[in-house]
Amino acid sequence: MHACAPWSLPEPTLAYFPNARCVLSDRGLGARAALQVGRRSLGGLAVVDQPASGASDFGHVPVLAQRCFELLAPALTRHHSDGSGAVLVDATLGAGGHAERFLTELPGVRLIGLDRDSTALDIAAGRLAPFADRITLVHTRYDGISEALAESGYSAAESVDGVLFDLGVSSMQLDRAERGFAYAKDAPLDMRMDPTSPLTAADILNTYDEAELARILHRYGEERFARRIAAQIVRRRARAPFTTTAELVALLYEAIPAPARRTGGHPAKRTFQALRIAVNDELDSLRSAVPAALDALRVDGRIVVLAYQSLEDRIVKRTFADATASRTPPGLPVELPGHEPRFRSLTHGAERPDATEMEHNPRSTPVRLRALQRVDHARGKARP
Ligand SMILES: C[S@@+](CC[C@H](N)C(=O)[O-])C[C@H]1O[C@@H](n2cnc3c(N)ncnc32)[C@H](O)[C@@H]1O
Repeated sequence: MHACAPWSLPEPTLAYFPNARCVLSDRGLGARAALQVGRRSLGGLAVVDQPASGASDFGHVPVLAQRCFELLAPALTRHHSDGSGAVLVDATLGAGGHAERFLTELPGVRLIGLDRDSTALDIAAGRLAPFADRITLVHTRYDGISEALAESGYSAAESVDGVLFDLGVSSMQLDRAERGFAYAKDAPLDMRMDPTSPLTAADILNTYDEAELARILHRYGEERFARRIAAQIVRRRARAPFTTTAELVALLYEAIPAPARRTGGHPAKRTFQALRIAVNDELDSLRSAVPAALDALRVDGRIVVLAYQSLEDRIVKRTFADATASRTPPGLPVELPGHEPRFRSLTHGAERPDATEMEHNPRSTPVRLRALQRVDHARGKARP
C-alpha cells in the first residue's frame, strides 16, 4: 500500500470492543463476505485482532496525512471545534492510519470506515479500539457507500461532512505473500482484495481469450507488449494452467524483450497492476463511488482523494471537473439559477508529496491528491 508501511501482523487476541458497531453489508461483496467481519460472525459486535504491540506500533505512515487533515478539518469543525456532530467517511479504511489521526485530533467526530477487505477491517478495529464508541466499520466496496450510509443511519444525500479515499492496495495486502499481489513473492495467483469474491488472477489467466487478455494488459497496465504477452499466456496455459505468481513472472521475463526489461521498472509491474485492477473491478468501482460520495456531502462538506496510478487519477480528475463545471449554456451573460457548479476545487490540479515525505515514505511517491468542497447555491459560494 502506498499509505501503509509494513508492520508485524498481530496475533489474534480476541479483544472485544462492545461499543464498536460493525455493519455488515453484502452490497458488491460475495455472499460469504456479508457474514463475517473479524474472527466471528457478528451481531453488532466487533471481535478483532489486537495489534501485538499496541496501536502506536504499526510502523504505519499514512500518505499526505497532514494535508488530508488540513483540507478536511475545516468541514469537520465548522460547527464545533472538536468536530462534534460531524461525520467523516473513510472509504478506504485500510489499517486505519488516516482515521486514527482524525479521531485523535477531533474528539467529537464520528467516523464511518469502509473496506472490502475484512482483514483490513480487523486490523483497523484493533487500532481504533480507543475510539470504538465513535466508529462504524462497514465491510463493503466503496461503490456501496450509499447503502453503507443508510445501514449506519445516514442518508445517501447530504448527510456527511467529509469523505476520504486513499486508493489502491494496502501494505498488509502486499506483505501477505499468500494474497498474490506482489510479483517479488511466489504465491498463488489470487489478487482479490476481498478474498470471498469469486474471480482470481489465475481464473483470468487460465480462461480469458487472447484478445481479452491483451485488452486487460493494455488498458489496465498500459503494457506496450500486451499482445505478445497475451499470446504467450495462451500458449503456456495449453501445457498447464497457471497457479503461481512465479510462473507468471517467468513468462513475463521471456515475453518482454531484453532492452525493454531494462527500463520502466520491474517487467512484471504493469501486468500485475492490470490483473489486480481486473480482478477487483477497481475502475468501475471508483467510477460510481466518487459521484456517490459527492452526493453524500452536505453543503461546505469536503472530499479528498489520493490516487496512485494514472487510470484512477484520470477518473477522479474527470469526475471532479464535471462537479466543478457550470451547467449554464455557454454564451449566456449570467449564471442560470440552478445551473451553478455544485463544487469548488480546493487544489490547483493535483498535489504531490514533498521530497522529504517521498524519502521517508517511498510508497507516497506516485500519489496525486485532489480535493473539492460542496458549494451552497443560496450563498452562491462555499465558505473559504
Ligand atoms: C491504501 S489502503 C488505505 C490505507 C489507509 N488510508 C490507512 O491510513 O491505513 C487502501 C485500502 O482500500 C481498500 N480498497 C481498495 N479498493 C476498495 C474498494 N473498491 N472498496 C472498498 N475498499 C477498497 C483496500 O482493501 C485497502 O485496505
